Amino acid sequence: MTKTRAAITGVQGYVPDYVLTNQELEQMVETNDEWIRSRTGIVERRILKGEEQGTSVIGAEAVKGLLEKTNTNPEEIDLIICATVTPDMPFPATANIIADMVGAKNAFSYDLSAACSGFLFALDTGAKYIESGTYKKVVVIGADKMSSIIDYTDRTTCIIFGDGGGAVLLEPTTEEVGVMDSILRSDGSGAPYLHMKAGGSRKPATEETVANREHFAYQEGSTVFKFAVTNMADVAAEVVEKNGLTSDDIAWLVPHQANKRIIDATARRMGVTDEKVMLNIQRYGNTTAGTLPLCLWDYESQLNKGDNIVLAAFGGGFTWGATWLKWAYDPK
Ligand code: UT7
Repeated sequence: MTKTRAAITGVQGYVPDYVLTNQELEQMVETNDEWIRSRTGIVERRILKGEEQGTSVIGAEAVKGLLEKTNTNPEEIDLIICATVTPDMPFPATANIIADMVGAKNAFSYDLSAACSGFLFALDTGAKYIESGTYKKVVVIGADKMSSIIDYTDRTTCIIFGDGGGAVLLEPTTEEVGVMDSILRSDGSGAPYLHMKAGGSRKPATEETVANREHFAYQEGSTVFKFAVTNMADVAAEVVEKNGLTSDDIAWLVPHQANKRIIDATARRMGVTDEKVMLNIQRYGNTTAGTLPLCLWDYESQLNKGDNIVLAAFGGGFTWGATWLKWAYDPK
């Protein structure tokens, strides 16, 4: 019997207009453009400004553009999964809000929390619904408004993160394209190194938690860095080797955009040369669940049907993983 796979049939990103430059950050905390560029590769990032503007704004803008470019009626969508760690509210799910904003009246929708690996986890989950024959049109979103949980007095985190995201449409195909294989991992013992201390059920918000700045992302950067370099590179190499591919077979590596040095280490470990590595960290910083779809969106016009693409991520949790996919369409 012919195997049904989940093909990405469109991708769309969205970043807010406001550009937060390294120079502006120099006015806010004790840092400098040279340090940020050489240690992270980041030059600027986008910030979603305005009252009551949540992650749903980013997700909905991406999905609206996606539906338009793929000629899809919102009522045809079966399922929307939104990967995010910055939901509009603890509940309902941001995916529900996005579904309402785009008119996806027949879709059921839910959020998935896996930090920087969220898009990969959601992509794999969405693909299973397609492969099983359950659904025909699944939208997978990765979006974060990181500025809502960043302490702009903490120079070790505020220089890294930005707001943005993207969405892909998954549809069935019987061709040899689409999501081919994934290796996904998590390890909860990594939680102390990257987390938000308060605002959850363990430590609900109080005046004290606010005064102690416990509603912001807390990261022990150099520890996370060490785990990220090893695990992201290893899992990307593992998915390639498991499927009998070599570095020559890889058209593109799509690494999570957390730090240019982690990206370079992953590419080296896989034997992939720089021109095959998607990179936009310099413009958007680390948008957490948003980085991978934003890369695919930026590079869409250079992707050809049949291209072997390896996506890899590492993030809070710890969570990490790599997905091998074959691109399903030529530039339009
Ligand atoms: O996406 C989710 C997963 N997250 C990641 O993958 C992030 C992983 N971590 C990183 O990317 C890096 O660890 C950072 C970019 C966060 C920090 O870079 P680092 O090279 O690991 O720096 P460090 O924390 O070891 O700090 C080195 C020095 C310290 O000064 P001393 O102690 O050597 O005097 C810091 O105080 O750099 C100092 N420093 C800064 N200096 C200027 C830290 N942040 C800054 C800053 N500007 N913004």
